[in-house]
Amino acid sequence: MKRITALALTLFIAAPSLGAAEPEKGKALNQQHCLQCHGGEVMTRPDRRVQDRGQLRNQVSRCEQNLNLRWFEDDIDNVTEFLNRDFYHFP
Ligand code: HEC
Repeated sequence: MKRITALALTLFIAAPSLGAAEPEKGKALNQQHCLQCHGGEVMTRPDRRVQDRGQLRNQVSRCEQNLNLRWFEDDIDNVTEFLNRDFYHFP
């Protein structure tokens, strides 16, 4: 019983920011893994392909999988949030 409580506590502490994406973390990941092919220029061109938040997240996930980075869902959320904040500005 004690052990279960400890485990629950650990999980709780390990995920303190559940739900709130962290764009600064996303920025670091983007710098590290994404800039060798394209920067913001594909995201600010007039005929960019991504048209809403859902598509943005899908595209982040697609590029991430192509690169075989094995990110967590949180990482994808953080990068999505960063790209939206700095380039796409979807509501
Ligand atoms: C191996 C090269 C490569 C890398 C590395 C790469 N991408 Fe891409 N990305 C592409 C290509 C190719 C496109 C399609 C560009 C086009 O449509 O002309 C694209 C498009 C995109 C778009 C859509 C742009 C639009 O038109 O709105 C997003 C968002 C994006 N990438 C995010 C990422 C993220 C996040 C990463 C890092 C995980 C990443 N990319 C890493 C090749 C790459």
